[in-house]
Amino acid sequence: MEQKKGQRLVLFPLPLQGHMNPMLELANILHSRGFSITFIHTTFNSLNPSNYPHFTFHSFPDGLSPTEVSTSKNDILSFLLHLNTKCVQPFKDCLATLLSQAALDVKPYTCLIYDGLLNFTQAVSCSLNLPTVVLRTGGASSFVVFAAFPLLWEKGYLPIQESRLEEQVIEFPPLKVKDIPTMNTPNQEKFVEFLKAIIKAAKASSGIIWNTFEDLEQPSLESLKNQLNIPMFPIGPFHKYNSTSSSSSSSLLIEDKSSISWLNTQAPKSVIYVSFGSLAVIGEAQFLEIAWGLANSKHPFLWVVRPASVNGAEWLESLPKGFVEELGGRGHIVKWAPQKEVLSHVAVGAFWTHNGWNSTLESICEGVPMICMPCFSDQKVNAVYVSRVWKVGIQLENGKFERGEIEQSIRKLMKENEGEEIRCRALKLKDKSISCLVQGGSSYQSLNSLVSHLLSLE
Ligand code: UDX
Repeated sequence: MEQKKGQRLVLFPLPLQGHMNPMLELANILHSRGFSITFIHTTFNSLNPSNYPHFTFHSFPDGLSPTEVSTSKNDILSFLLHLNTKCVQPFKDCLATLLSQAALDVKPYTCLIYDGLLNFTQAVSCSLNLPTVVLRTGGASSFVVFAAFPLLWEKGYLPIQESRLEEQVIEFPPLKVKDIPTMNTPNQEKFVEFLKAIIKAAKASSGIIWNTFEDLEQPSLESLKNQLNIPMFPIGPFHKYNSTSSSSSSSLLIEDKSSISWLNTQAPKSVIYVSFGSLAVIGEAQFLEIAWGLANSKHPFLWVVRPASVNGAEWLESLPKGFVEELGGRGHIVKWAPQKEVLSHVAVGAFWTHNGWNSTLESICEGVPMICMPCFSDQKVNAVYVSRVWKVGIQLENGKFERGEIEQSIRKLMKENEGEEIRCRALKLKDKSISCLVQGGSSYQSLNSLVSHLLSLE
């Protein structure tokens, strides 16, 4: 296919770890296909241009107050709403300046690729005559449920009632009411309004890029194609393309490389890797049940405990005195790990995860079976798909975080027949995640279509 070197794209990521990673990976993919990449980014969690000498960067003052910034840690919906309000004018100014400078160049910008949760950018970009393409960093199956929130509301499933948690959502098998991807917010109606705005902006865009692949989510992609009626490009898994920059360069926290040297001392497939992503916060009681469940399982474990991810604690001070020492090297705890490297390590036998979409996909790509402990939002749907649709993991039931149950789940996955079957399925799914990227594969073809589509927007 003919490629016009130097076609320019503007990319605008949501400044949270689980969203910046896929946007940067996408940038690398498109750059390798001949596009020039310009990032616009907020000052909050700003990107470090020196890690990406092949891209151009422009930051704008997002105007978020310290209180609004702190909502990114405990009230994500409020944080997203602040971003979608505060950034409108400075983003518009930044984009307008960029476009007016580009007008003097030979090659103007072709389009803006924005994170789907920054829905305000669609109207702004449209007012400046620049087409938009959405990047959805989450999975398609969870998005199908998000798109149906008005219906779920109408049918009385929302707001969620404690007494109905175990009821099936007839419209979305195998989801139960407890699996509906709500946010931890008292104002569920606000969340529904936000979702409607996201869908509206997506429908007004020129296409959606997905970090997923056909074999994984074909029915959901098909359903969304019919509903949204815009071109869809499932080109994932992004992180499995040959990236020109190291994965660690987008990490907001420093990756503890001792994770790998410790894994090097462990037997193949023996280690449980435990991480709950970049945002989830757990209570102290739950933290202790996890600690004892891991200790009692007698399996080696690598556990990421992000600073301030346990309510009321800075790091590990809630652990009983001597807990780590008594493990005698069987457990290794770090603040942040090089996760992709960890998951591809031969010693890792299972991933106890919160099922953020990136973690879910990264685990699938390495054929590592999962213990699912979703915390909020899309994680709940992802966990259902992992445990009950793709059947490459088991789910710890919410609210039952008791050390005995944890120990039992670990044993089931690591030792018993059911675990063996899960492992076999995980390896088959891993193969599919690789084959979709090779010549003729679904993501390979979809990327070709995306490149043509972007060039046609000129
Ligand atoms: C957030 C939302 O919680 C999630 O629902 C949504 O799907 C994406 O954004 P997050 O908590 O950031 O998710 O988790 P996830 O999507 O799994 O992304 C975390 C990223 O950080 C992954 O790419 C993972 O490899 C990386 N990571 C995590 C590390 O590099 N080191 C770690 O120790 C932990």
